Amino acid sequence: MIWDELEVGLVKLAAGGLFRRRRTLDAPCGPEAVVEGRRVVAFCSNDYLGLANHPTLIAAVREAAERWGVGSGASHMVSGHLRPHAELEERLAAFVERDRALYFSTGYMANLAVAPTLLERGDAIFADRLNHASLIDAALLARAEQIRYPHGDLEMLARRLEQSQARRKLILTDAVFSMDGDLAPLPELFDLAERFDAWLVVDDAHGFGVLGPGGRGSVAHFKLPPSPRLILMGTLGKAAGASGAFVAGDRRVIEWLTQRARPYIFTTASSPVIAAALLVSLELIASGSARRAHLRRLIRRLRAGLAGLPWRIWPSPTAIQPVLIGGNDAAARVAEHLFEHGFWVPAIRPPTVPVGTARLRISLSAAHTEDQIDALLAALRECVMTPSLSLSQAPAPVLDGKEGLPSSTKGEGEERRESFPEDTE
Ligand SMILES: Cc1ncc(COP(=O)(O)O)c(C=O)c1O
Repeated sequence: MIWDELEVGLVKLAAGGLFRRRRTLDAPCGPEAVVEGRRVVAFCSNDYLGLANHPTLIAAVREAAERWGVGSGASHMVSGHLRPHAELEERLAAFVERDRALYFSTGYMANLAVAPTLLERGDAIFADRLNHASLIDAALLARAEQIRYPHGDLEMLARRLEQSQARRKLILTDAVFSMDGDLAPLPELFDLAERFDAWLVVDDAHGFGVLGPGGRGSVAHFKLPPSPRLILMGTLGKAAGASGAFVAGDRRVIEWLTQRARPYIFTTASSPVIAAALLVSLELIASGSARRAHLRRLIRRLRAGLAGLPWRIWPSPTAIQPVLIGGNDAAARVAEHLFEHGFWVPAIRPPTVPVGTARLRISLSAAHTEDQIDALLAALRECVMTPSLSLSQAPAPVLDGKEGLPSSTKGEGEERRESFPEDTE
């Protein structure tokens, strides 16, 4: 039967340690989760500023539901574009200092909108190999040639841009790599975009709200100029604590996307309640220096503790702190052990990350306390000492730093980028 191969596929996933299981939460998103009757400290959300369950946002949602109802009823181009959507776009554009912004239901959809709408046959996309799945899918959807360069390898990228005969070129990159936490060399990428007359599309899903002055994101931190070739995507379901995303840039780019982007046009506009909540979120982000300073302290504390463990860590200055385990099963075992001991840290395995680099992805939030970080470190130390986990030996796979994997010696650029978030606020 046609479904038999699915059965085989599912068995194979389980055998390869790749079967994923959802956990249902019985409490709002926050540093303490209630999962299947158990209370655990959660290090897995992208709620970097602790806004997902913030009382001010909850109040904004209540008020907006009274004023605007729940559903938008149609797509933006038909009749689903309500005042909160319009105001949000204006405020987002002003916040990130671009001409205009376009609000999408999700970051995945925003990414699917950009490259496929701007490019066609005969054009080329140059994409970092460790880009988020939504950027990879966007590149597949675009009819352009796809060239993937090794993670952060500017020389290779420059060579490929130089060799390319494409009519139009587009460089596509995460700003903060979602499974690695490191930063893309945005100024250098921008220089290359200038040199080769390319678009530079920056996905700042994990930088928006967290990095740069006022939380305006990676582009603001690096002080990239407001060039028409720079297209910024930011998500609103992570630091902003709600859901959705925006693409911001030159007014012609945004108008073109409004007119032509299928993931914008052919979908029901998200709830006006969410847009109204996001207006409040933006204010909390802008006034959130203390939250960001606390988050930076937590990052430093966690990294200092992790340095004493036998596992490699990434040169990540951000709230995303991966710990390399290596094997899929081993990563799953450690995550399970941690969970049983009250800590929820997801094991990230292929295909989300390259084979052999299964990892714990610890994500921090300004809502965490220093005590929670210390308790997690103690639990990780305990894992190392637990014979049944067979982890007492430091795993030392031969890894290629260029592919975003932790290298034992850090390059100058990494050092520079590691001190990055402290510098800007
Ligand atoms: C780098 C990156 N881009 C895009 C997305 C997609 O955003 P959303 O969750 O809003 O669809 C994510 C989130 O998973 C991400 O990590």
